[in-house]
Amino acid sequence: MTDKRSILVTSALPYANGPIHLGHLVEYIQTDIWARFQRLRENTCYYVCADDAHGTPIMLRARQDGITPEELIAVTQKEHEADFADFLIDFDNYYTTHSDENREFASSIYLKLRDEGHIRTQTIKQAYDPEAEMFLPDRFIKGTCPKCGADDQYGDNCEVCGATYDPTELKNPVSAVSGATPIEKDSEQYFFKLSDFSDMLQKWLKDGHVQSEVANKLDEWFEEGLKDWDISRNAPYWGFEIPDAPGKYFYVWMDAPMGYMASFKNLCDKSDINFDDYWAADSKNELYHFIGKDIARFHTLFWPAVLDGAGYRKPSGVFCHGFLTVNGQKMSKSRGTFIKARTYLEHLNPEYLRYYYTAKLSSGVDDIDLNLEDFMQRVNSDLVGKVVNIASRCAGFITKKFDKQLSAELPDIDLYNDIVAAGEQIASHYENREYNKAVREIMAQADKANVYIDENKPWVLIKEEGKEDEVQKICTQGLNMFRLLMTYLKPILPATAEKSETFLNTELKWSTINKPLLSHGINKFKPLLTRIEKEQIDAITEASTENMPTKEITATGPLADDPIADEISFDDFAKVDLRIAKIVKAEHVDGADKLLQLTLDLGGDTRNVFAGIKSAYKPEDLEGKLTVMVANLAPRKMRFGLSEGMVLAAGPGGKDLFILNPDDGATPGMKVK
Ligand code: MSP
Ligand code: ZN
Repeated sequence: MTDKRSILVTSALPYANGPIHLGHLVEYIQTDIWARFQRLRENTCYYVCADDAHGTPIMLRARQDGITPEELIAVTQKEHEADFADFLIDFDNYYTTHSDENREFASSIYLKLRDEGHIRTQTIKQAYDPEAEMFLPDRFIKGTCPKCGADDQYGDNCEVCGATYDPTELKNPVSAVSGATPIEKDSEQYFFKLSDFSDMLQKWLKDGHVQSEVANKLDEWFEEGLKDWDISRNAPYWGFEIPDAPGKYFYVWMDAPMGYMASFKNLCDKSDINFDDYWAADSKNELYHFIGKDIARFHTLFWPAVLDGAGYRKPSGVFCHGFLTVNGQKMSKSRGTFIKARTYLEHLNPEYLRYYYTAKLSSGVDDIDLNLEDFMQRVNSDLVGKVVNIASRCAGFITKKFDKQLSAELPDIDLYNDIVAAGEQIASHYENREYNKAVREIMAQADKANVYIDENKPWVLIKEEGKEDEVQKICTQGLNMFRLLMTYLKPILPATAEKSETFLNTELKWSTINKPLLSHGINKFKPLLTRIEKEQIDAITEASTENMPTKEITATGPLADDPIADEISFDDFAKVDLRIAKIVKAEHVDGADKLLQLTLDLGGDTRNVFAGIKSAYKPEDLEGKLTVMVANLAPRKMRFGLSEGMVLAAGPGGKDLFILNPDDGATPGMKVK
């Protein structure tokens, strides 16, 4: 191996107003495995992250919960850190963007950019909530989609038809904060002149710092021309105030990436790492950001330009991944596939998910699917069936028959060397983030090891006279192959690797794989991983299914084939005016086979209603009865005349249809509540 590298990696900073879910974990697991791999190869690799603690959603969420933003972000950070720790994400530092270090970076970088002439101001019109007295981000304006007419859509895009638009194009816009109609209001804003960096960025992108798919997308933005970037927000805002502009705050996306520097600075101050070695303009060390494809623009245009303008180094690479789908679809609360990290952890070992994601991840930006059925099978057959199985088939003999001692030589050194040789290919797959290929290669080696044991059958030999030596050697071969596999899997399965180290009584190091463990004492074997059971998966889905009794009930009886409709608000319900009505007359309708014509007395008002209940009632049986009607339904013109309301009836239809028949002193006109 050549010179050791010095690397700093980051994952995107999760927002401090929501829990970590399995979608986020694609990224933190991907990054953690890469960092662990680098360390296993004896490079220096620091992995830092932080909570992204600023912005309007956090401010409003805190307000809604009746706490301060400081309280909200403190609680959330604790939860995030616990989730990450339990998923074995090994950060060197986890911090927050609401820190002194970050305030320092935000202001010094801004002042540098300003002094270099990269900041300008401009008065612009923005949506303003006159009741809440605040400017509204696009996400906080709702209204009718200008393209398809769907109600209750966000100010920037329609979830029904997928259209994107300007909030000013929304019909009937309302503020999601107060319900007021937004007005347009002028204010002066601070812009970062991104266009100053156009040439620099084009060159940087050509030099291969981003994936080709991302570079292609960026080309489109270059063709449209780079627009200057509004980095300021008006008070009230939750963030850092701009040094020379009272009442103006840095837009959350301005100080968020600086959180990478701030978290690292905080680490440097606690250790002997030199900050400038990693961030100075002439740094030779490597810097990589792992991010999701939704935030590529911030990391491949704004961020390198800000760094360049402020005299820092630019990232060596920005590694973009796709989005997680579950069972082929977007994560969904009603399907029980919006799975929080914590919910998963309550039922399953984190290493299963780490393994499955690894088996699926490539270096591209394609979405990855967590198919729960496949997840279970894959983990059970690969990890339990192939890898752990090797150890459990060999360990017992060594412990019981050979006093825990491995033999002095390997019976099939060629096979061993073969699996060692595969290591370089596996390493290069890890390095290039072709994790799916690394896993495929490791499992191919595991297959070879299993074939060896199947063919040599130590459990048969042990019963034969004088074959003991042979059994010891076969099992020594088996455990040595297991050791190689676990070394290769160590970045993915750190806890199982640690247990294996205890069992094998040796540290799993990549640099020593070519030397087999011989004449070496091991420890008692304890089960390393157990199978996933279907019940555990079901329990996760169930616990993730949000209480929507309307849809999610496992119904029997009528609910089974006629589920309860979407939930409505009380306001919606209150619009329906239900009244007791007396059926004073009921008659057949000429030419109608389902309808009866009812004359209803509402206690002062008489209504003519056509009701589809002829299959169940004879007119004469109805006269004189009380029932319940919707009294404020808009009249409908039907073929036989005007229908002025609707009576309520229950049942599947045909003979089984029952009009509501209140008694107990109800009188016509009474309100039904
Ligand atoms: N706070 C910003 C990032 C600031 S970085 C300076 C943010 N936060 S986030 O919580 O929304 O997302 C954090 C990371 O998780 C992002 O890289 C995002 O792409 C990723 N993911 C969030 N949901 C995801 C999936 N469903 N699937 C895969 N990754 C996802 O963006
Ligand atoms: Zn629409």
